[in-house]
Amino acid sequence: MTACIVGWAHSKFGKLDGETSESLVVKVASEAMAHAGIEPKDVDVIYVGNMNGGFVKQEFHSSLPLQTHPDLRFKPSTRVENACATGSAAIHMGINSLAAKKARFVLVVGVEKMTELNSTQAGDVLIKASYVAEEAEIEAGFAGIFGKITSTYFQRYGDKSDALARIAVKAHKNGIKNPYAHFQREFDYAFCRNPSDKNPFVAGPLKRTDCSPVTDGAAAVILADSDTALGMKQAIAFRAAEHVNDFLPMSKRDIIQFDGPTLAWQRALQSARLDLLDLSFVETHDCFTSAELIEYEAMGLTPRGQGERAILEGWTERDGKLPVNVSGGLKAKGHPVGATGVSMHVMSSMQLAEAAGSMQLASPRLGAVFNMGGAAVANYVSILERVK
Ligand code: COA
Repeated sequence: MTACIVGWAHSKFGKLDGETSESLVVKVASEAMAHAGIEPKDVDVIYVGNMNGGFVKQEFHSSLPLQTHPDLRFKPSTRVENACATGSAAIHMGINSLAAKKARFVLVVGVEKMTELNSTQAGDVLIKASYVAEEAEIEAGFAGIFGKITSTYFQRYGDKSDALARIAVKAHKNGIKNPYAHFQREFDYAFCRNPSDKNPFVAGPLKRTDCSPVTDGAAAVILADSDTALGMKQAIAFRAAEHVNDFLPMSKRDIIQFDGPTLAWQRALQSARLDLLDLSFVETHDCFTSAELIEYEAMGLTPRGQGERAILEGWTERDGKLPVNVSGGLKAKGHPVGATGVSMHVMSSMQLAEAAGSMQLASPRLGAVFNMGGAAVANYVSILERVK
């Protein structure tokens, strides 16, 4: 591969009153450059991952990083959007710029400010990432899409509410160790498993604790070509970076097969010449707990219909054979859409650099990110390895 992550930054995720997407962008962009040990003048190209689509009035984001320093003025900067995979899409654009030798250093920022809207209004924005002609009337916003996917899964393979509750408990237990997480508190199994006033059904079999929250936040990385990266303070290489888009309408697919994620995983493992269990950890796109369950199958951890084994038998716990979402995932960390993919790469880089503080796993060597836009529509897998 041609690209490495050589610096990173991450804001606190949560309901960030008083912050704007501009203030968040400026903060993480300047911190990422400082972390990489580069000056603003060294940046050749900028990509900004931002979904927006009505969360805030400021829709045109590409020049916001230029507010960080006058030396960023006149640098080419582009906003990138691919629904909930926007952050990874921006990173992939950066990798392409390096591969085309258009840049030595790329600044990638992901940002979303969602909480200026209430959950219902945010749901109305998020549903635009469905196939609107057929799916926009579904109730409960994007949770309704995954409510439908979860019901279909339960009809084919049986009620998996126990496994979904276990995934939520794992996420929140891990989130306690993550100082950047939206929720840093434990939710016990009985609370996640049983509907209540505090944990009502949101869509189909999904309860509130099965959903990622509506969150503000930003993250940034500095990418460099491999030769340049080896001269930097730290370098996390892309062993693979694969992107697979599937049809948008759910009616054109067997929606619980997650064919796009499966293909992205197969291509990434093949191109990195690795088996899944060579990985020390995975950060996967748990926008809903049922997404994580089906993703266990898509990554090849279990056969179809048996994803529950991975959680019920403890394989994906911090101390399991393949720890999944030791950051707390989208469920506990939060899911500020445009920032999420960048955040997943930052969390993985921190782990591999052994700079993850209380989240740190023992000597991880290889990590992977799976970031998904829409209902398994835009699928990105990155496999990362520390080279310096
Ligand atoms: N998980 C656990 N607790 C949550 C939560 C979540 N996802 N979202 C909110 N809460 C908690 C709040 O902290 C608050 O707790 P408190 O009473 O102790 O202060 C309480 O639930 C009520 O918060 P509120 O924001 O009023 O909840 P809500 O019912 O309006 O929203 C969801 C909850 C799940 C509907 C909302 O978070 C949501 O729409 N999530 C999905 C977002 C989405 O679709 N993202 C894109 C995915 S592809």
